[in-house]
Amino acid sequence: MAFPIHRPRRLRRTAALRDLVRETDLTPRQLVAPLFVKEGIDDPAPIASMPGQAQHTLESLRKEAREIFERGVRAFVLFGVPLRKDAEGSEAWNDQGIVQRGIGALREELGDDAVVIADLCLDEYTDHGHCGVLDELGNVDNDATLERYRWIAGSHARAGADLVAPSGMMDGQVAAIRSALDGDGRSDVGILAYAAKFASAFYGPFRDAAECTPRFGDRAGYQLDPGNGDEALREIRADLDQGADIVMVKPALPYLDVIRRARQEGGAPVAAYNVSGEYAMVKAAAEQGWIEEHQAVLEVLTAIRRAGADLILTYHAGDAAGWLS
Ligand code: PBG
Repeated sequence: MAFPIHRPRRLRRTAALRDLVRETDLTPRQLVAPLFVKEGIDDPAPIASMPGQAQHTLESLRKEAREIFERGVRAFVLFGVPLRKDAEGSEAWNDQGIVQRGIGALREELGDDAVVIADLCLDEYTDHGHCGVLDELGNVDNDATLERYRWIAGSHARAGADLVAPSGMMDGQVAAIRSALDGDGRSDVGILAYAAKFASAFYGPFRDAAECTPRFGDRAGYQLDPGNGDEALREIRADLDQGADIVMVKPALPYLDVIRRARQEGGAPVAAYNVSGEYAMVKAAAEQGWIEEHQAVLEVLTAIRRAGADLILTYHAGDAAGWLS
């Protein structure tokens, strides 16, 4: 009798068969759309390095969020670009600041049908562009920065954020923010922790969008070294111990192994941030006609899900949701 050869192609013959056995699904509800809101502009300003994305006015922010929402995306992460920057980044905790007004606008536009996430960091607000305040030697002062993060968390909560998302990679930031929120009687506000955030070249376009390129030095003194997977896991465990509600790995594509390990850790839902440089690569190649955008985007997002991400922050959210529905 002939040895029965395996025939996997039987299940690949039609789209219906392939759909039946696909292991990983991708739906708009798993996507989170990052949006930028800028103070003091009358019209949205397109971001050259991120085709299709813009710095929004409060009005265009609402409109853009509404359009993305109508396609099935339920969550937004908001970044503010203030007019006034100083050494401390004090606009970050101004209750009338641009991100606070943006949070309010999204809440007003979409109510509790949308999840509003506020990125919590100082780099968009400091005149030197670092994610924290500096000591006399010009180094980022961890614990002085935590104090500011606590003020920002309170301000985001008052503005109406469901979740705050600390992205500065300061040691102890989740614990500090958790205790500040609880102390303000806001134990209802959750923390999406940028737990494993690598010092990456793929943030380049974001720094144009958020106007936060460091004036000197780089972020390697606080973000993870790209070679370190075990250390990333220690960061994730530390954030879970400190009370993170969701842990995030960032960027996504170069760190799929870390996403998988975060998932296996099992302490909380895992988010992955498909960052600005990953977006720009796909857009640039597609504009050249070198890759097919629709297919490439869905493949990228499916791969990030397959690696283990429950949710994906991605600038493709609006387009992808349109293609999926
Ligand atoms: C820091 C922050 C950055 C990004 C999100 N939050 C930039 C950085 O660390 O330099 C990058 C996101 C992206 O590239 O899409 N507040």
